[in-house]
Amino acid sequence: MTSDGSPHRLWGGRFAAPVDEITERLNNSFAYDSRMWREDIQASIAHAEMLGETGVLPKEEAAAIADGLREVGAGLEDGTLAMDPRSEDVHTAIEGLLRAKIGPLAGKLHTARSRNDQVATDFRLYLKHAVERLVELLAQIQHTLLVVAEREMDAILPGYTHLQHAQPVRLAHHLLAYFWMFQRDRDRLRDWAARTDELPLGAGALAGTSFGIEPAIVARKLGFARVAPNSMDAVSDRDFALEFLSAAAILMVHCSRLGEELVLWSSPEFGFVTLADCVTTGSSIMPQKKNPDVAELARGKAGRVIGNLMGLLTVMKGLPLTYNKDMQEDKEAVFDTLDTLYTVLPALELSVRTATFDRLRMRQALAGDFSTATDLADALVRTGMPFRQAHELVGRLVRLCVERGRCLDDLGSADMVALVPELMAVEGLSMTPEASVESRRTPSGTARSSVERQLQQAKALLGL
Ligand code: ARG
Repeated sequence: MTSDGSPHRLWGGRFAAPVDEITERLNNSFAYDSRMWREDIQASIAHAEMLGETGVLPKEEAAAIADGLREVGAGLEDGTLAMDPRSEDVHTAIEGLLRAKIGPLAGKLHTARSRNDQVATDFRLYLKHAVERLVELLAQIQHTLLVVAEREMDAILPGYTHLQHAQPVRLAHHLLAYFWMFQRDRDRLRDWAARTDELPLGAGALAGTSFGIEPAIVARKLGFARVAPNSMDAVSDRDFALEFLSAAAILMVHCSRLGEELVLWSSPEFGFVTLADCVTTGSSIMPQKKNPDVAELARGKAGRVIGNLMGLLTVMKGLPLTYNKDMQEDKEAVFDTLDTLYTVLPALELSVRTATFDRLRMRQALAGDFSTATDLADALVRTGMPFRQAHELVGRLVRLCVERGRCLDDLGSADMVALVPELMAVEGLSMTPEASVESRRTPSGTARSSVERQLQQAKALLGL
């Protein structure tokens, strides 16, 4: 309760008049930071216990505060208590519930602490847990990619560069490319977690505190690996939020590219995949439509996640040390990103898991597409010809075919040699897409043996 009588804020003595309603509306963060209530309580319990253990507060008082906080937590968990939505922020709401439970003693919880180090601590804790769940979701989509790749080992399709047929590849190889993108995303989040594992509490408002606290005790209780070494940095650093948003933006770019391929491949022009009814929607006017909305939104939602990163970078770039209220803008950017990823990743996973790939259609797309031209050039190289010359000759052969409305597949060896006499020296001129794929046995190649090795590597990373 403050001198202006408001239980909704933690200050007031300095002010003669109440804040305007419009100020309150702008300033209030409860609507979005209330989701950190568990972390706020957890961090406050650790802080209170430490105050007791170090003798900053008498043991019984510290214990009563910690017990009161536990009761508040239990009450919120089972719904017998509710936070006051008019509170300025989650910290105010929790302290208000504690005061209702244990009376004025609640006022001692904030000894040797500021909301500046409190919010930085709560937010890190929240994000650490949230990212663990994200890493799980990533592992799930990786697992699905692996299962589908293994099932589709025999399917081959055109591999593209510039969205033009380039060389034939296994579908398994194409799908596993996304496995490795998501693997790097998982690694990035784990690197992030190690760097973020630092406790800001103990920094006070910005300069530290004159009370004999021991932040290391709080760090141990909350599971932080270390204590922040500089109080000014501790309260004004939001690198952990920016770095999370960057990792999330890269992850969403991967989701977006996979989504784009599903959109393309499910169009009649490609016809490589049929998406299941459970991940598609209909049209209100065109009865025949089946739209790949999940795949489109995996693509479209990348925009907001990238926007969240740009938004917070822009908020932070001009801020003087230390805490500034601008930094309250970090929450919505991060929460919106988390909510987006929590929805997009499982939906994309479901899309891949339930998709039906049309092997025949993919194979047909290779017919007459010149995608084995590199193999022909390589065959000339094996006769001793420099690659540049071989490239030129096969290029000329392709041009002649195009001019005559023919393709490599329906030219016999005699026709080929007639068009390019140098091909005389090459044995076995006709190269099927299957043979082309099988010839690429380099470690990262698309031959069965290479892709099988790749699958084993991928499985090992998922602990399979
Ligand atoms: N709600 C604030 C935030 O999210 C935390 C409170 C710090 N407020 C203050 N007046 N120092 O950043």
